[in-house]
Amino acid sequence: MAYIIGVDIGTSGTKTVLFDEMGKVIASKTIEYPMYQPKNGYAEQDPADWANAAVGTIKAVVAESGVKKEDVKGIGLSGQMHGLVMLDKDNEVIRRSIIWCDQRTANEVDEMNRILGRDKLIEITANPALTGWTAAKILWVKNNEPENYERCRHILLPKDYIRFVLTHEYATEVSDASGMQLLDVPKRNWSEEVISALGFDRSMFANVYESCEVTGGLTKEIAETVGLCEGTPVVGGAGDNAAAAVGTGVVEDGKAFTTIGTSGVVFAHTSSISIDKLGRVHTCCAAVPNSWHVMGVTQGAGLSLKWFRDNFCGAEKETAKLMDVDAYYLMDKETATVPIGANRLLYLPYLMGERTPHLDPDARGVFFGLSAMHTKKDMLRAVMEGVSYSLRDCVEVFRQMDINVSDMMACGGGGTSPIWRQMLADLYNCPVKTASSKEGPALGVAILAGVGAGLYSSVPEACHAIIKTDKVQEPIPEDVPKYEEFYKLYTEIYPALKGEFKKLASL
Ligand code: XUL
Repeated sequence: MAYIIGVDIGTSGTKTVLFDEMGKVIASKTIEYPMYQPKNGYAEQDPADWANAAVGTIKAVVAESGVKKEDVKGIGLSGQMHGLVMLDKDNEVIRRSIIWCDQRTANEVDEMNRILGRDKLIEITANPALTGWTAAKILWVKNNEPENYERCRHILLPKDYIRFVLTHEYATEVSDASGMQLLDVPKRNWSEEVISALGFDRSMFANVYESCEVTGGLTKEIAETVGLCEGTPVVGGAGDNAAAAVGTGVVEDGKAFTTIGTSGVVFAHTSSISIDKLGRVHTCCAAVPNSWHVMGVTQGAGLSLKWFRDNFCGAEKETAKLMDVDAYYLMDKETATVPIGANRLLYLPYLMGERTPHLDPDARGVFFGLSAMHTKKDMLRAVMEGVSYSLRDCVEVFRQMDINVSDMMACGGGGTSPIWRQMLADLYNCPVKTASSKEGPALGVAILAGVGAGLYSSVPEACHAIIKTDKVQEPIPEDVPKYEEFYKLYTEIYPALKGEFKKLASL
Protein backbone atom coordinates (compact mmCIF):
# COMPACT_ATOMS: atom_id res chain seq x y z
CA MET A 1 0.00 0.00 0.00
CA ALA A 2 1.20 3.54 -0.78
CA TYR A 3 0.72 6.46 1.65
CA ILE A 4 0.44 10.22 1.18
CA ILE A 5 0.70 13.10 3.65
CA GLY A 6 -1.23 16.38 3.73
CA VAL A 7 -0.02 19.29 5.89
CA ASP A 8 -2.40 22.20 6.47
CA ILE A 9 -0.82 25.33 7.97
CA GLY A 10 -3.93 27.01 9.36
CA THR A 11 -4.47 30.12 11.48
CA SER A 12 -5.23 28.33 14.73
CA GLY A 13 -2.81 25.44 14.19
CA THR A 14 -1.11 23.08 11.77
CA LYS A 15 -2.80 19.78 11.08
CA THR A 16 -0.96 16.94 9.39
CA VAL A 17 -2.72 13.80 8.24
CA LEU A 18 -1.18 10.61 6.87
CA PHE A 19 -3.60 8.84 4.50
CA ASP A 20 -3.44 5.59 2.60
CA GLU A 21 -3.77 5.92 -1.18
CA MET A 22 -7.58 5.55 -0.92
CA GLY A 23 -7.83 8.55 1.40
CA LYS A 24 -8.31 6.60 4.64
CA VAL A 25 -6.87 8.43 7.67
CA ILE A 26 -4.03 6.43 9.23
CA ALA A 27 -2.72 9.08 11.66
CA SER A 28 -3.44 12.73 12.39
CA LYS A 29 -1.81 15.36 14.59
CA THR A 30 -2.49 19.06 15.22
CA ILE A 31 -0.24 21.58 16.97
CA GLU A 32 -1.73 24.99 17.82
CA TYR A 33 -0.04 28.40 18.01
CA PRO A 34 -1.06 31.99 18.77
CA MET A 35 -2.09 34.89 16.55
CA TYR A 36 -0.79 38.30 17.65
CA GLN A 37 -2.92 41.46 17.36
CA PRO A 38 -0.58 44.31 18.33
CA LYS A 39 -3.21 46.91 17.23
CA ASN A 40 -6.90 46.92 16.29
CA GLY A 41 -7.02 45.49 12.74
CA TYR A 42 -3.49 44.01 12.84
CA ALA A 43 -2.89 40.23 12.71
CA GLU A 44 0.50 38.52 12.77
CA GLN A 45 1.98 35.07 13.33
CA ASP A 46 5.47 33.76 13.88
CA PRO A 47 6.72 31.60 10.96
CA ALA A 48 8.89 29.68 13.46
CA ASP A 49 5.66 28.48 15.13
CA TRP A 50 4.43 27.16 11.77
CA ALA A 51 7.76 25.46 11.09
CA ASN A 52 7.91 23.78 14.51
CA ALA A 53 4.30 22.67 14.15
CA ALA A 54 4.79 21.34 10.59
CA VAL A 55 7.93 19.37 11.40
CA GLY A 56 6.49 18.21 14.75
CA THR A 57 3.21 16.99 13.24
CA ILE A 58 4.87 15.20 10.29
CA LYS A 59 7.20 13.43 12.71
CA ALA A 60 4.26 12.51 14.96
CA VAL A 61 2.07 11.00 12.19
CA VAL A 62 4.95 9.02 10.69
CA ALA A 63 5.81 7.58 14.12
CA GLU A 64 2.18 6.87 15.05
CA SER A 65 1.30 5.21 11.73
CA GLY A 66 4.20 2.77 11.81
CA VAL A 67 4.26 2.70 7.98
CA LYS A 68 7.54 1.99 6.16
CA LYS A 69 9.17 5.23 5.13
CA GLU A 70 9.68 4.00 1.53
CA ASP A 71 5.88 3.64 1.24
CA VAL A 72 5.24 7.36 1.83
CA LYS A 73 5.11 8.55 -1.77
CA GLY A 74 4.54 12.26 -1.41
CA ILE A 75 3.66 15.28 0.71
CA GLY A 76 1.26 18.10 -0.14
CA LEU A 77 1.15 21.50 1.58
CA SER A 78 -1.94 23.59 2.17
CA GLY A 79 -2.11 26.80 4.13
CA GLN A 80 -3.74 30.05 5.06
CA MET A 81 -3.43 32.34 2.03
CA HIS A 82 -2.00 35.85 1.55
CA GLY A 83 0.44 35.92 4.52
CA LEU A 84 3.75 37.69 3.95
CA VAL A 85 6.97 35.91 4.93
CA MET A 86 10.19 37.87 4.27
CA LEU A 87 13.61 36.19 4.33
CA ASP A 88 17.02 37.90 4.30
CA LYS A 89 20.10 36.78 2.37
CA ASP A 90 20.80 34.08 4.96
CA ASN A 91 17.18 32.85 4.77
CA GLU A 92 16.44 34.23 8.24
CA VAL A 93 12.85 35.42 8.82
CA ILE A 94 12.98 39.25 8.97
CA ARG A 95 9.74 40.01 10.86
CA ARG A 96 6.61 38.25 12.02
CA SER A 97 4.29 37.33 9.14
CA ILE A 98 1.48 39.81 8.45
CA ILE A 99 -1.35 37.36 7.84
CA TRP A 100 -4.51 37.17 5.70
CA CYS A 101 -6.94 38.93 8.06
CA ASP A 102 -4.66 41.91 8.80
CA GLN A 103 -6.27 45.15 7.66
CA ARG A 104 -3.50 47.75 8.04
CA THR A 105 -2.95 48.42 4.33
CA ALA A 106 -5.76 50.82 3.31
CA ASN A 107 -3.19 53.45 2.15
CA GLU A 108 -1.25 50.89 0.15
CA VAL A 109 -4.44 49.75 -1.61
CA ASP A 110 -5.02 53.39 -2.65
CA GLU A 111 -1.40 53.54 -3.82
CA MET A 112 -1.82 50.39 -5.96
CA ASN A 113 -4.96 51.84 -7.52
CA ARG A 114 -3.13 55.11 -8.26
CA ILE A 115 -0.14 53.32 -9.82
CA LEU A 116 -1.90 50.67 -11.88
CA GLY A 117 -5.57 51.67 -11.99
CA ARG A 118 -8.38 49.49 -10.69
CA ASP A 119 -9.40 48.16 -14.12
CA LYS A 120 -5.87 47.12 -15.08
CA LEU A 121 -5.41 45.33 -11.76
CA ILE A 122 -8.65 43.44 -12.25
CA GLU A 123 -7.72 42.60 -15.87
CA ILE A 124 -4.32 41.11 -14.93
CA THR A 125 -4.69 39.82 -11.37
CA ALA A 126 -8.45 39.06 -11.74
CA ASN A 127 -9.11 40.96 -8.48
CA PRO A 128 -9.19 44.56 -7.24
CA ALA A 129 -6.47 45.73 -4.82
CA LEU A 130 -7.31 44.18 -1.47
CA THR A 131 -6.07 45.07 2.00
CA GLY A 132 -5.55 41.47 3.09
CA TRP A 133 -3.61 40.36 0.00
CA THR A 134 0.15 40.07 -0.13
CA ALA A 135 1.14 42.86 -2.56
CA ALA A 136 -0.37 45.57 -0.31
CA LYS A 137 1.49 44.08 2.66
CA ILE A 138 4.83 44.17 0.84
CA LEU A 139 4.16 47.83 -0.01
CA TRP A 140 3.27 48.51 3.65
CA VAL A 141 6.63 47.12 4.80
CA LYS A 142 8.38 49.15 2.07
CA ASN A 143 6.61 52.33 3.24
CA ASN A 144 6.73 51.78 6.99
CA GLU A 145 9.71 49.56 7.74
CA PRO A 146 12.21 50.45 4.97
CA GLU A 147 15.08 48.77 6.85
CA ASN A 148 13.18 45.45 6.78
CA TYR A 149 12.33 45.86 3.10
CA GLU A 150 15.98 46.60 2.24
CA ARG A 151 17.09 43.36 3.94
CA CYS A 152 14.48 41.25 2.12
CA ARG A 153 15.71 38.81 -0.56
CA HIS A 154 12.86 36.27 -0.69
CA ILE A 155 9.11 36.60 -0.33
CA LEU A 156 7.10 33.49 0.42
CA LEU A 157 3.55 32.57 1.40
CA PRO A 158 3.02 30.68 4.70
CA LYS A 159 2.89 27.16 3.23
CA ASP A 160 5.72 28.01 0.80
CA TYR A 161 7.90 29.00 3.75
CA ILE A 162 7.25 25.51 5.17
CA ARG A 163 8.18 24.07 1.76
CA PHE A 164 11.45 26.00 2.05
CA VAL A 165 12.05 24.53 5.51
CA LEU A 166 11.34 21.01 4.21
CA THR A 167 13.09 21.12 0.82
CA HIS A 168 15.23 24.29 0.63
CA GLU A 169 13.40 25.24 -2.59
CA TYR A 170 11.85 28.65 -3.20
CA ALA A 171 8.63 27.58 -4.89
CA THR A 172 4.94 28.41 -4.96
CA GLU A 173 1.96 27.22 -7.01
CA VAL A 174 -0.80 28.91 -8.96
CA SER A 175 -3.72 28.77 -6.50
CA ASP A 176 -1.98 30.41 -3.53
CA ALA A 177 0.09 32.74 -5.73
CA SER A 178 -3.22 34.07 -7.17
CA GLY A 179 -3.83 35.60 -3.71
CA MET A 180 -0.64 37.67 -3.80
CA GLN A 181 -2.07 40.05 -6.42
CA LEU A 182 1.14 39.76 -8.45
CA LEU A 183 0.11 36.84 -10.64
CA ASP A 184 -1.32 37.12 -14.14
CA VAL A 185 -4.25 34.87 -13.21
CA PRO A 186 -5.49 34.15 -16.77
CA LYS A 187 -1.90 33.22 -17.82
CA ARG A 188 -1.02 31.40 -14.55
CA ASN A 189 2.39 33.05 -14.10
CA TRP A 190 3.89 36.17 -12.46
CA SER A 191 2.89 39.49 -14.01
CA GLU A 192 6.15 41.28 -14.82
CA GLU A 193 4.02 44.39 -15.41
CA VAL A 194 2.45 44.48 -11.93
CA ILE A 195 5.68 43.51 -10.14
CA SER A 196 7.72 46.22 -11.85
CA ALA A 197 4.99 48.90 -11.59
CA LEU A 198 4.92 48.40 -7.82
CA GLY A 199 8.72 48.68 -7.73
CA PHE A 200 9.39 45.15 -6.46
CA ASP A 201 12.42 43.13 -7.43
CA ARG A 202 11.31 40.13 -9.53
CA SER A 203 14.08 37.97 -8.08
CA MET A 204 12.37 38.01 -4.65
CA PHE A 205 9.54 35.81 -5.94
CA ALA A 206 9.62 32.01 -6.06
CA ASN A 207 9.15 29.73 -9.10
CA VAL A 208 5.48 29.09 -9.91
CA TYR A 209 4.24 25.49 -10.42
CA GLU A 210 0.87 23.86 -11.04
CA SER A 211 -0.55 22.47 -7.79
CA CYS A 212 0.12 18.78 -8.50
CA GLU A 213 3.66 19.25 -9.83
CA VAL A 214 6.62 18.11 -7.74
CA THR A 215 8.54 21.18 -6.47
CA GLY A 216 11.38 19.38 -4.65
CA GLY A 217 12.20 16.63 -2.17
CA LEU A 218 12.80 16.47 1.59
CA THR A 219 16.33 17.45 2.59
CA LYS A 220 18.49 14.83 4.29
CA GLU A 221 18.34 16.67 7.61
CA ILE A 222 14.55 17.04 7.65
CA ALA A 223 14.03 13.49 6.37
CA GLU A 224 16.07 12.19 9.31
CA THR A 225 14.19 14.39 11.78
CA VAL A 226 10.73 13.28 10.67
CA GLY A 227 11.56 9.66 9.84
CA LEU A 228 10.99 9.74 6.06
CA CYS A 229 13.27 9.13 3.04
CA GLU A 230 15.50 11.90 1.77
CA GLY A 231 14.00 13.25 -1.48
CA THR A 232 10.37 12.30 -0.63
CA PRO A 233 8.52 14.45 -3.21
CA VAL A 234 6.74 17.61 -2.05
CA VAL A 235 4.14 18.81 -4.58
CA GLY A 236 2.96 22.39 -5.11
CA GLY A 237 -0.12 21.89 -2.95
CA ALA A 238 -2.67 24.71 -2.73
CA GLY A 239 -4.02 27.63 -0.74
CA ASP A 240 -6.39 26.29 1.92
CA ASN A 241 -9.53 26.96 -0.09
CA ALA A 242 -8.32 25.46 -3.36
CA ALA A 243 -7.08 22.52 -1.29
CA ALA A 244 -10.46 22.10 0.44
CA ALA A 245 -12.06 22.08 -3.04
CA VAL A 246 -9.99 19.04 -4.03
CA GLY A 247 -10.63 17.45 -0.63
CA THR A 248 -14.40 17.75 -1.11
CA GLY A 249 -14.42 16.85 -4.81
CA VAL A 250 -15.26 20.38 -6.02
CA VAL A 251 -13.27 19.96 -9.24
CA GLU A 252 -15.98 20.27 -11.92
CA ASP A 253 -18.47 22.95 -13.05
CA GLY A 254 -21.66 23.19 -10.95
CA LYS A 255 -19.84 22.05 -7.80
CA ALA A 256 -19.25 24.38 -4.85
CA PHE A 257 -18.50 24.33 -1.16
CA THR A 258 -18.99 26.53 1.88
CA THR A 259 -16.41 26.38 4.59
CA ILE A 260 -16.77 27.88 8.02
CA GLY A 261 -13.32 28.07 9.53
CA THR A 262 -11.86 31.22 11.09
CA SER A 263 -13.01 32.93 7.89
CA GLY A 264 -15.99 31.74 5.86
CA VAL A 265 -15.68 30.97 2.18
CA VAL A 266 -18.12 30.11 -0.56
CA PHE A 267 -16.16 28.58 -3.44
CA ALA A 268 -17.26 27.46 -6.92
CA HIS A 269 -15.20 25.67 -9.58
CA THR A 270 -15.22 27.16 -13.12
CA SER A 271 -13.58 25.56 -16.17
CA SER A 272 -13.28 28.98 -17.83
CA ILE A 273 -12.19 32.15 -16.09
CA SER A 274 -14.96 34.36 -14.70
CA ILE A 275 -14.23 37.75 -13.11
CA ASP A 276 -16.60 40.03 -11.16
CA LYS A 277 -16.06 43.53 -12.57
CA LEU A 278 -16.94 44.96 -9.16
CA GLY A 279 -14.31 42.75 -7.51
CA ARG A 280 -16.69 41.49 -4.82
CA VAL A 281 -15.56 37.86 -5.12
CA HIS A 282 -12.05 36.61 -5.80
CA THR A 283 -11.10 34.77 -8.97
CA CYS A 284 -8.04 32.53 -8.59
CA CYS A 285 -6.37 29.64 -10.40
CA ALA A 286 -7.76 26.32 -9.21
CA ALA A 287 -5.58 23.43 -8.09
CA VAL A 288 -6.83 21.57 -11.19
CA PRO A 289 -4.75 22.51 -14.26
CA ASN A 290 -6.53 24.81 -16.78
CA SER A 291 -9.33 25.78 -14.43
CA TRP A 292 -10.17 28.55 -12.02
CA HIS A 293 -12.47 29.23 -9.12
CA VAL A 294 -14.48 32.09 -7.72
CA MET A 295 -14.69 32.57 -4.01
CA GLY A 296 -16.52 34.92 -1.72
CA VAL A 297 -14.96 35.48 1.68
CA THR A 298 -16.47 36.62 4.94
CA GLN A 299 -13.68 37.59 7.31
CA GLY A 300 -15.23 36.74 10.67
CA ALA A 301 -17.16 33.45 10.35
CA GLY A 302 -15.91 30.81 12.84
CA LEU A 303 -13.99 33.71 14.33
CA SER A 304 -17.31 35.28 15.40
CA LEU A 305 -18.46 32.16 17.19
CA LYS A 306 -15.06 31.61 18.79
CA TRP A 307 -15.07 35.26 19.95
CA PHE A 308 -18.53 34.75 21.45
CA ARG A 309 -17.51 31.46 23.09
CA ASP A 310 -14.31 32.89 24.59
CA ASN A 311 -15.90 36.07 25.92
CA PHE A 312 -19.39 34.98 26.98
CA CYS A 313 -19.58 31.19 27.22
CA GLY A 314 -17.35 30.40 30.20
CA ALA A 315 -20.15 28.35 31.77
CA GLU A 316 -20.61 26.28 28.58
CA LYS A 317 -16.86 25.68 28.48
CA GLU A 318 -16.87 24.43 32.08
CA THR A 319 -19.88 22.17 31.55
CA ALA A 320 -18.41 20.86 28.31
CA LYS A 321 -15.23 19.90 30.17
CA LEU A 322 -17.25 17.97 32.77
CA MET A 323 -19.30 16.23 30.07
CA ASP A 324 -16.23 15.58 27.92
CA VAL A 325 -17.82 17.24 24.88
CA ASP A 326 -16.92 20.31 22.83
CA ALA A 327 -18.31 23.67 24.06
CA TYR A 328 -19.58 24.26 20.49
CA TYR A 329 -21.77 21.17 20.85
CA LEU A 330 -23.54 22.74 23.85
CA MET A 331 -23.73 26.10 22.09
CA ASP A 332 -25.45 24.36 19.13
CA LYS A 333 -28.03 22.89 21.50
CA GLU A 334 -28.73 26.35 22.96
CA THR A 335 -29.06 27.87 19.50
CA ALA A 336 -31.66 25.25 18.57
CA THR A 337 -33.95 26.48 21.39
CA VAL A 338 -34.24 29.97 19.84
CA PRO A 339 -36.58 30.64 16.87
CA ILE A 340 -35.41 31.78 13.42
CA GLY A 341 -34.58 35.50 13.57
CA ALA A 342 -33.28 35.21 17.18
CA ASN A 343 -36.35 37.03 18.52
CA ARG A 344 -35.69 39.96 16.18
CA LEU A 345 -31.95 40.25 16.75
CA LEU A 346 -29.46 40.53 13.90
CA TYR A 347 -25.67 40.30 13.93
CA LEU A 348 -23.18 41.63 11.36
CA PRO A 349 -20.01 39.49 11.55
CA TYR A 350 -17.55 42.20 10.55
CA LEU A 351 -15.14 41.76 13.51
CA MET A 352 -12.14 41.98 11.16
CA GLY A 353 -13.63 44.24 8.47
CA GLU A 354 -15.38 42.55 5.53
CA ARG A 355 -14.54 41.36 2.06
CA THR A 356 -17.50 39.97 0.08
CA PRO A 357 -19.47 41.96 -0.85
CA HIS A 358 -18.42 45.23 0.83
CA LEU A 359 -14.59 45.23 0.58
CA ASP A 360 -14.46 47.44 3.66
CA PRO A 361 -11.61 47.11 6.19
CA ASP A 362 -13.34 49.65 8.48
CA ALA A 363 -16.58 47.68 8.88
CA ARG A 364 -17.05 46.25 12.38
CA GLY A 365 -19.42 43.86 14.13
CA VAL A 366 -22.94 44.94 15.08
CA PHE A 367 -25.78 43.50 17.14
CA PHE A 368 -28.89 45.15 15.74
CA GLY A 369 -32.18 45.17 17.64
CA LEU A 370 -30.99 44.34 21.17
CA SER A 371 -33.80 44.47 23.67
CA ALA A 372 -34.02 43.89 27.42
CA MET A 373 -35.78 40.58 26.72
CA HIS A 374 -32.80 39.13 24.83
CA THR A 375 -30.58 36.55 26.47
CA LYS A 376 -27.21 35.10 25.67
CA LYS A 377 -28.92 32.34 23.68
CA ASP A 378 -30.57 34.89 21.37
CA MET A 379 -27.19 36.51 20.81
CA LEU A 380 -25.66 33.13 20.09
CA ARG A 381 -28.27 32.30 17.47
CA ALA A 382 -27.93 35.80 16.00
CA VAL A 383 -24.17 35.22 15.60
CA MET A 384 -24.69 31.93 13.71
CA GLU A 385 -27.43 33.44 11.56
CA GLY A 386 -25.38 36.60 10.84
CA VAL A 387 -22.48 34.49 9.59
CA SER A 388 -24.93 32.52 7.40
CA TYR A 389 -26.35 35.76 5.97
CA SER A 390 -22.85 36.91 5.08
CA LEU A 391 -22.26 33.57 3.27
CA ARG A 392 -25.55 34.01 1.40
CA ASP A 393 -24.20 37.40 0.25
CA CYS A 394 -21.43 35.45 -1.53
CA VAL A 395 -23.92 33.17 -3.31
CA GLU A 396 -25.91 36.25 -4.43
CA VAL A 397 -22.79 37.59 -6.20
CA PHE A 398 -22.24 34.20 -7.93
CA ARG A 399 -25.85 34.31 -9.14
CA GLN A 400 -25.27 37.78 -10.59
CA MET A 401 -22.20 36.37 -12.41
CA ASP A 402 -24.31 33.52 -13.88
CA ILE A 403 -22.36 30.92 -11.94
CA ASN A 404 -24.89 28.28 -11.09
CA VAL A 405 -24.30 25.95 -8.23
CA SER A 406 -26.16 22.63 -8.19
CA ASP A 407 -24.03 20.79 -5.66
CA MET A 408 -23.03 22.47 -2.34
CA MET A 409 -20.71 20.79 0.15
CA ALA A 410 -20.13 22.10 3.69
CA CYS A 411 -16.78 21.81 5.44
CA GLY A 412 -14.54 23.44 8.04
CA GLY A 413 -15.21 23.34 11.80
CA GLY A 414 -18.56 25.13 11.36
CA GLY A 415 -19.59 22.67 8.64
CA THR A 416 -19.74 19.93 11.30
CA SER A 417 -22.65 21.75 13.00
CA PRO A 418 -26.01 20.35 11.75
CA ILE A 419 -27.84 23.54 12.75
CA TRP A 420 -25.39 25.75 10.87
CA ARG A 421 -25.69 23.51 7.78
CA GLN A 422 -29.49 23.75 8.00
CA MET A 423 -29.27 27.56 8.11
CA LEU A 424 -27.16 27.42 4.93
CA ALA A 425 -29.51 24.99 3.17
CA ASP A 426 -32.48 27.26 3.99
CA LEU A 427 -30.67 30.46 3.01
CA TYR A 428 -29.20 29.05 -0.25
CA ASN A 429 -32.44 27.14 -0.88
CA CYS A 430 -30.43 24.13 -2.04
CA PRO A 431 -29.31 20.85 -0.45
CA VAL A 432 -26.09 21.06 1.56
CA LYS A 433 -23.95 17.91 1.80
CA THR A 434 -20.91 16.86 3.75
CA ALA A 435 -18.04 14.69 2.58
CA SER A 436 -17.50 11.43 4.45
CA SER A 437 -13.90 12.51 5.07
CA LYS A 438 -13.69 15.57 7.31
CA GLU A 439 -10.11 16.33 6.34
CA GLY A 440 -10.84 18.93 3.56
CA PRO A 441 -7.58 20.81 2.91
CA ALA A 442 -5.21 18.11 4.24
CA LEU A 443 -6.93 15.44 2.11
CA GLY A 444 -6.97 17.83 -0.88
CA VAL A 445 -3.22 18.34 -0.87
CA ALA A 446 -2.56 14.67 -0.11
CA ILE A 447 -4.58 13.91 -3.28
CA LEU A 448 -2.41 16.40 -5.18
CA ALA A 449 0.64 14.57 -3.80
CA GLY A 450 -0.87 11.29 -5.02
CA VAL A 451 -1.24 12.76 -8.51
CA GLY A 452 2.30 14.22 -8.41
CA ALA A 453 3.70 10.85 -7.31
CA GLY A 454 1.92 9.08 -10.18
CA LEU A 455 -0.60 7.14 -8.05
CA TYR A 456 -3.42 8.82 -9.99
CA SER A 457 -3.40 10.23 -13.50
CA SER A 458 -5.40 13.42 -12.82
CA VAL A 459 -7.00 15.37 -9.96
CA PRO A 460 -10.62 14.61 -11.03
CA GLU A 461 -9.75 10.90 -11.41
CA ALA A 462 -8.30 10.83 -7.89
CA CYS A 463 -11.33 12.70 -6.48
CA HIS A 464 -13.77 10.27 -8.11
CA ALA A 465 -11.91 7.37 -6.50
CA ILE A 466 -11.50 8.90 -3.05
CA ILE A 467 -14.27 11.42 -2.19
CA LYS A 468 -17.60 10.10 -0.95
CA THR A 469 -20.52 12.22 0.21
CA ASP A 470 -22.15 11.63 3.56
CA LYS A 471 -25.08 13.57 5.10
CA VAL A 472 -27.43 15.66 2.94
CA GLN A 473 -29.54 18.45 4.45
CA GLU A 474 -32.49 19.61 2.34
CA PRO A 475 -33.96 23.11 2.72
CA ILE A 476 -37.07 23.17 4.94
CA PRO A 477 -39.74 24.77 2.69
CA GLU A 478 -41.58 26.64 5.49
CA ASP A 479 -38.34 28.07 6.92
CA VAL A 480 -36.96 29.43 3.64
CA PRO A 481 -39.28 32.51 3.53
CA LYS A 482 -38.73 33.18 7.25
CA TYR A 483 -34.97 33.46 6.78
CA GLU A 484 -35.52 35.45 3.58
CA GLU A 485 -37.20 38.30 5.47
CA PHE A 486 -34.40 38.59 8.02
CA TYR A 487 -31.76 38.28 5.28
CA LYS A 488 -33.35 41.18 3.40
CA LEU A 489 -33.18 43.37 6.51
CA TYR A 490 -29.59 42.24 7.11
CA THR A 491 -28.58 43.50 3.64
CA GLU A 492 -29.99 46.95 4.52
CA ILE A 493 -27.95 47.47 7.71
CA TYR A 494 -24.42 47.77 6.30
CA PRO A 495 -25.29 50.51 3.75
CA ALA A 496 -26.94 52.50 6.56
CA LEU A 497 -23.77 52.29 8.70
CA LYS A 498 -21.05 52.51 6.06
CA GLY A 499 -20.18 56.16 6.78
CA GLU A 500 -20.34 55.61 10.54
CA PHE A 501 -17.82 52.74 10.33
CA LYS A 502 -15.41 55.13 8.61
CA LYS A 503 -15.95 57.77 11.31
CA LEU A 504 -15.39 55.19 14.04
CA ALA A 505 -12.12 54.09 12.43
CA SER A 506 -10.86 57.67 12.37
CA LEU A 507 -11.59 58.42 16.06
C1 XUL B 1 -9.00 33.51 1.54
C2 XUL B 1 -8.60 33.86 2.92
C3 XUL B 1 -8.78 32.88 4.00
C4 XUL B 1 -7.42 32.40 4.40
C5 XUL B 1 -7.39 31.79 5.79
O1 XUL B 1 -8.86 34.55 0.64
O2 XUL B 1 -8.10 34.92 3.20
O3 XUL B 1 -9.64 31.86 3.69
O4 XUL B 1 -6.89 31.58 3.41
O5 XUL B 1 -7.87 30.58 5.90
